[in-house]
Amino acid sequence: MAAPLDNLFVREIERNDGKTLKINQSEIGDVGCVVWDAALVLTKYLETNDFQRGTAWKGKRVVELGAGTGVVGLYAASLGATVTITDLPELIPLIQRNIDDNVKVVTGSATTEPLTWGSDTCNQSCRNPDYIFLADCIYYEESLNPLMSTMCDLCGPRTVVLCCYEQRDTEIKKVLEAQFFNLVRESFVIEEVPLERQDPQFCSDDIHILKFIRKSESDVT
Ligand SMILES: C[S@@+](CC[C@H](N)C(=O)[O-])C[C@H]1O[C@@H](n2cnc3c(N)ncnc32)[C@H](O)[C@@H]1O
Repeated sequence: MAAPLDNLFVREIERNDGKTLKINQSEIGDVGCVVWDAALVLTKYLETNDFQRGTAWKGKRVVELGAGTGVVGLYAASLGATVTITDLPELIPLIQRNIDDNVKVVTGSATTEPLTWGSDTCNQSCRNPDYIFLADCIYYEESLNPLMSTMCDLCGPRTVVLCCYEQRDTEIKKVLEAQFFNLVRESFVIEEVPLERQDPQFCSDDIHILKFIRKSESDVT
């Protein structure tokens, strides 16, 4: 179902320098129509000391998967990155609207493309990016293998995946997360970003930021 653009409400996200991104969310539509807490945590992490308070994003090539509103990718683009923001085809109009409404704050570039995990391939410019963003994308079993296949397809040897997710307590979600991380470990080394390196305000015990770093061919199990 497409996210209609006539029932929008705005969430303002302030950068550390006071500039503001205006992110439209939709009252009608699927899970991608609103900004999730994991996206906010990842967004604010981009301006921490791990990225020289945000200055490290200038010129970096980024692909966001399952972007929803596109908030994380747009934030990186506002810090100077060249970002391709992707999701299912029905989310593209909402993402495009958010790109259009934040043109003034974007100092790098932001474009959007449909990308369904496991079935579409991104155009050549998406391959081998510096970073892939993944915010709150671990939530249903059928998607795990296709998501892994897209990640492996896009990643070059130096690509880092920044994955942020909210840990859920139900048994079914715990199993799902374990399944996903077992798959990830086949091709990537996983490092967790400790809370003290995250934004002091936008962090939480149950929201985790992980870095996936591609194993070299010889290390792949
Ligand atoms: C929980 S939402 C998170 C949205 C956004 N990243 C955030 O954190 O605010 C999960 C996103 O994954 C996208 N998604 C789900 N299955 C997908 C698939 N097979 N291919 C591409 N995107 C998918 C949904 O459309 C949705 O935008």
